[in-house]
Amino acid sequence: MKVAVPKETFPGEDRVALIPANVPQLVKAGIDVQIESGAGVAAGFSDAMYQDKGATICTDRGEIFAADIVAQVRSLGANLEAGRDDVARMKTGGIILGTCDPLGEPAAIKDVAETGASLFSLEMIPRITRAQSMDVLSSMATVAGYRAVLLAAVELPKLFPMLMTAAGTLKATRVFVIGAGVAGLQAIATAKRLGGVVRAYDVRPACREQVESLGGKFVELKLETEQSEDKGGYAKAMDDAFYAKQRELMAEVVAESDVVITTAAIPGKTSPLLITAEAVAGMAAGSVIVDMATERGGNCALSQAGQRVVEHGVVILGPTNLPAEIPHHASQMFSSNVTKFLLNLVQEGAVKMNLEDEIIRDTLVAHQGQVVHGRIREALGLEPLAAATAEQAEQAEASIDADSKPVESPAENESSPDAAKEKSE
Ligand code: NAI
Repeated sequence: MKVAVPKETFPGEDRVALIPANVPQLVKAGIDVQIESGAGVAAGFSDAMYQDKGATICTDRGEIFAADIVAQVRSLGANLEAGRDDVARMKTGGIILGTCDPLGEPAAIKDVAETGASLFSLEMIPRITRAQSMDVLSSMATVAGYRAVLLAAVELPKLFPMLMTAAGTLKATRVFVIGAGVAGLQAIATAKRLGGVVRAYDVRPACREQVESLGGKFVELKLETEQSEDKGGYAKAMDDAFYAKQRELMAEVVAESDVVITTAAIPGKTSPLLITAEAVAGMAAGSVIVDMATERGGNCALSQAGQRVVEHGVVILGPTNLPAEIPHHASQMFSSNVTKFLLNLVQEGAVKMNLEDEIIRDTLVAHQGQVVHGRIREALGLEPLAAATAEQAEQAEASIDADSKPVESPAENESSPDAAKEKSE
């Protein structure tokens, strides 16, 4: 059983899917680890460091993709242009795992499915206690939230902390964080550490306690938010009237802030527009907005993905790959998540495609030539797959080697109703 790690090809992607420290755990589990030469260099991990830990180095990308399992930070859907070159290298019965933006780029999942390879989307890890250690979205959001505040601090023509000096008193920077999920909470914590005065808002009322525990003040907007959370703990899309009211109420808080960090996202949907051009115009010149949602349309009307724009004297940043800007620690976290995922998938030296396991079922998006995930099939306008018969399920559960014959249609994977029960607080 071989797991191989290619060098990332997405422009500016400096992370690597596996770091040397995790190699021994995989070797101990009967897995040979192969790394494409130079894959870890940008994150601070040389080929020699991997070799020291028991991995082999390979310079042939074709050979990397011939492994039983290929672990990537960005597979095709999350690397649409450069990632195309790898499609021809994917093989029937092979397994690819990585982020692949299945809800944003479902057509790319179909392209991978057509190669006959199985694809596991790490974005689809269910938010259950057992899977927390594999949750790359949480890991990367933590890094991104931290980085967003640092970017704002560098742009801002002010210091964050309140300072009482012989040269006078400087007021603390007022930071407003919109969306208090994983990235938002890390942004709050980072802004507090820098000495800012932090306020935060989220459509999910459950966030209040978390915001307050980090020393932030929860902004109360007079909005009806009872149905704002789905069973997976994510925000649900609300109607236009709700968003219009929200924008109106929030503009006042935005105007009073030096820094606004927006993280509001709805999985698989366009991000809600929360800061209008008028609200930006209401801010003092020199203020900074970091819109962390630009990849999905953005939370600010004036932000542009990957750009720094200045409007009404306000600097608006739209970073799209913040974790890659802190590649060492981001790779460490990603690698730890991937290792836990692999140790769950590979048992006794063979892949155990156990579709009874919610983690495997929910993350498997392409298998045996088909897109097998219900939500992605729906996004592609495909009919749901028929539920597997007991016999098929049994076959699918059987341990498979990379070169074994494919099993029949797996069960269509939908989020388990147990997910909500198991979701950690
Ligand atoms: P996300 O990246 O999908 O969204 C970011 C934040 O934006 C969320 O908190 C969401 O409520 C908020 N948001 C959406 N629309 C908004 C609007 N119109 N106005 C203001 N805020 C809005 O979410 P993320 O950070 O990935 O996770 C969300 C929650 O999932 C976490 O806070 C946690 O409760 C839960 N979670 C559970 C885990 C587990 O049990 N294993 C692991 C990680 C998160």
